[in-house]
Amino acid sequence: MRFRTLFFTLFVTHLAAAHPLEWLGLASWDVEGYAKDNPIGPTTGGEGGETVTVDNAADFKAAVTGNDPRIVLVIGEINLPSRLKIGANKSVIGFGKTAHITGSGLDVYHVSNVIIRNLKISFIKDNDCITIRNSTRVWVDHNEFESDISKGPDFYDGQVDVIRGSDWITVSWNYFHDHWKSSLVGNDAALRDEDFGKLHVTYHHNYWRNAGTRGPAGRFGHQHVYNNVYADFLYQAIHSRSYNQILVEGNVFRGNTREALSTYGLVIPEDSPNTCSCGDEELDGFANLGAKNDWGEAGVNITQVGNFTKAPYKFKLTPLSLVERVVKLGVGIGKI
Ligand SMILES: *[C@@H]1O[C@H](CO)[C@@H](O)[C@H](O)[C@H]1NC(C)=O
Ligand SMILES: *[C@@H]1O[C@H](CO)[C@@H](O)[C@H](O)[C@H]1NC(C)=O
Ligand SMILES: *[C@@H]1O[C@H](CO)[C@@H](O)[C@H](O)[C@H]1NC(C)=O
Ligand SMILES: *[C@@H]1O[C@H](CO)[C@@H](O)[C@H](O)[C@H]1NC(C)=O
Repeated sequence: MRFRTLFFTLFVTHLAAAHPLEWLGLASWDVEGYAKDNPIGPTTGGEGGETVTVDNAADFKAAVTGNDPRIVLVIGEINLPSRLKIGANKSVIGFGKTAHITGSGLDVYHVSNVIIRNLKISFIKDNDCITIRNSTRVWVDHNEFESDISKGPDFYDGQVDVIRGSDWITVSWNYFHDHWKSSLVGNDAALRDEDFGKLHVTYHHNYWRNAGTRGPAGRFGHQHVYNNVYADFLYQAIHSRSYNQILVEGNVFRGNTREALSTYGLVIPEDSPNTCSCGDEELDGFANLGAKNDWGEAGVNITQVGNFTKAPYKFKLTPLSLVERVVKLGVGIGKI
């Protein structure tokens, strides 16, 4: 008990010491976008519930099970023997700079109101680091995701995938790196009825470095993608296909990127080499451009302009000239 109280006190002290970017007014550390402003209410996770610290897989599992509001502080490295399902009304928050999930990833399945912050999740085989499936109100913030791209597109799966009618999600201030297929929204062109008009996801202030595809790739939904930095996102970063609507603003591309943004329905062979060496044909998506982006040397192929012209909420847009510095300073673990 003493142990737990000590950690909680340290944690609260830690939270109170805001990051310089926040007190300079350059960025918001609070939830912003669809996980905050949506028809069913803001994402609060375990707010109001008890705080539990965990440092092993069994305690972690017990703490995230069920729908009672709970704040789960993860201490150090935990190797998960199998995927861990997070219950409703949970905040899973890494402590300090060393919270690290290895072995298996996290599932947010059939639930609402989940927050995942300040965790490193790396080298998860055969499945995603985080899969959000048939779930609403999820905030994935200030995490780090890593594997390696030398083994091709299918050795690892996604980093944060949002599928099966999930809705009202924000993915912010994450450091995604050294990974092929990063973030898929809507996982099958055949799931139109399940997904169409859902899959509202806000991606802001994420840093993607040395990735292959899907930063993000969306089908049938709406994604607002602002103030992200892409460095050497090699093949195709933002892809809107199968009637997806995407609003893209204030992003920065650096280094080697073939395509920053495409709405052409072809799922390129670099993304899914198994079905056909020529890629897979789907219907095109839509894209709208808001505040100016810096595409660097990357290509842009907008085949259809859509009707997602403005975010339906207030948000803090970082000026384009500061985006690269602000994002690199603010992302990843040990910053909240
Ligand atoms: C989606 O999740 C809800 C609970 O939030 C559940 O009632 C429903 O059966 C799930 N739907 C599917 C298709 O799994
Ligand atoms: C917790 O989650 C369940 C299922 O999503 C929800 O019905 C319930 O109202 C939540 N409880 C609290 C206290 O937020
Ligand atoms: C851009 O989209 C058009 C379809 O409108 C397609 O013919 C062309 O090959 C695409 N360009 C690239 C580089 O994929
Ligand atoms: C936006 O465009 C999509 C795709 O054409 C369409 O289904 C939807 O009804 C449009 N929404 C509005 C508000 O016009």
